[in-house]
Amino acid sequence: MFEKTTAVILAAGQGTRMKSGLPKVLHPVAGKPLLHYTVRAALEAGCGEVVVVVGHGREAVEAYLAKAFGASGENAEWAGRVKTAVQTEQRGTGDAARAGLSGVRADAERILLFYGDVPMLTAEDVAAVARALDDDSAAMLAMATCTTDDPFGYGRVIRDALGQVVAIREQRDLASDVERAIKEWNPGIYAASRRFFEDALASLEPNNAQGEYYLTDVVSFAAKRGNRVASVPSNPAVMDGVNDRAQLALADRAMSERILKKHRLAGITIRDGARIEDGVEIGADAVIESFAVLRGRTRVGAGATVDVGCVLTNADVGERVALKPYTVVTDSIVRARAQIGPFSHLRPESDVGEDAHVGNFVETKKTKLDRGAKANHLAYLGDGFVGEGANVGAGTIFCNYDGFQKHVTRIGKGAFIGSDSQLVAPVTIGDGAYVGTGTTVTKDVPADALAIGRAKQENKEGYAARLRGRLKAAKEASAKKG
Ligand code: UD1
Ligand code: MG
Repeated sequence: MFEKTTAVILAAGQGTRMKSGLPKVLHPVAGKPLLHYTVRAALEAGCGEVVVVVGHGREAVEAYLAKAFGASGENAEWAGRVKTAVQTEQRGTGDAARAGLSGVRADAERILLFYGDVPMLTAEDVAAVARALDDDSAAMLAMATCTTDDPFGYGRVIRDALGQVVAIREQRDLASDVERAIKEWNPGIYAASRRFFEDALASLEPNNAQGEYYLTDVVSFAAKRGNRVASVPSNPAVMDGVNDRAQLALADRAMSERILKKHRLAGITIRDGARIEDGVEIGADAVIESFAVLRGRTRVGAGATVDVGCVLTNADVGERVALKPYTVVTDSIVRARAQIGPFSHLRPESDVGEDAHVGNFVETKKTKLDRGAKANHLAYLGDGFVGEGANVGAGTIFCNYDGFQKHVTRIGKGAFIGSDSQLVAPVTIGDGAYVGTGTTVTKDVPADALAIGRAKQENKEGYAARLRGRLKAAKEASAKKG
């Protein structure tokens, strides 16, 4: 039903109140830019086309849109539906809407217009405004309205004696106590025919406190011509715009709560204080403990536990994995039933096999551990392969870097690396081989061989007692001398 509807989303403003070098609409809420959510709402509502009006920070905004909604974006069905139009000078929301309209495809009949800085609004919220236009044949324009006790900062909805909407008055332009007492405000979602917007936007004049072209003046344009403006009472909890960092924090909290609730209702236990960004996937019966942070394209399998303080970024965590407290996983895979942590650090391109164990103070980078392999304590495994069931002892280091290049360490199936060994890459330890504790391995070790490279131990009977006597006497002699 929205195939011939184009959504025009205004995102060209400077966002002065953010006091930021980053364009306002790119500030993240629950891990994604503000603009992401409004564009997604339009696409999910089924709009055939979305035109984002860009201007301030244009290159960055366009780059983000191409990444998120382009051909290789997160949802193939959306590819090609998001375009941009340029507002060259930021002269107000009315001017931005005009720029947007010039980018709308020729066969679009209806326009849904809203702002890119209202991240909580949903597809249903915008669709309701378009439906109100269809349902009321006398209405030329439909708009959402909200009512709250303190609408400070928002444009207020002015109604006539019959209760018809006749104008929107911006905060700065409120002219009387009666107007200041109005509790109904404009969240900024409008629907009308393309033709109406073309006429109304062409008529705008910057006659207001800010000297800007106000999109909101399309309301009085309609009313003055005797056209009805349909109003759709909307949920104020999802309509807050983000104009400064305090509002950004509120939006982030609200979005995070929405995300947590969705996962909880899907059968996941999430303790207070956990943070889960938009787009993270979690399987049923997983448990996410307090202060765990799940970011980016992270996926957590069914029945897995993510304990206190874990930080997962683009992590692919299998079913029934246990991530113990304070484990950090970045751009890596942890396969089913593996156990990681506490205090493990899996850096990019690590791949921990099924039932494998990575323990405390173990750092991995670009290393694959096969099924059932173990590295339980204090190790650095960089650029390596650890074969099935192999055991890497405490304090083992893969010496992978010579100051110029990275080299690979391979440990065969079932091999055993004694504690405090250094494996100087490139080096291969064969299947079933042993490396004696404290060995510096510089040559390949054949399968089933023992490599041992430490100084031979010698015991000198009674030597410690004699040494103590000598040292004690020396101390006493020096004390006497003063
Ligand atoms: C606007 C509305 C106000 C409403 C509020 C809801 C107007 C005049 N006011 O005020 O009635 O209650 O939103 O959140 O429309 N933009 C451009 N080009 C510009 C100026 C702004 O593209 O020249 C974009 C911004 O990037 C932003 C959106 O338009 O995404 C809204 O602009 P903003 O300055 O935030 O308007 P508000 O003061 O919030
Ligand atoms: Mg705003």
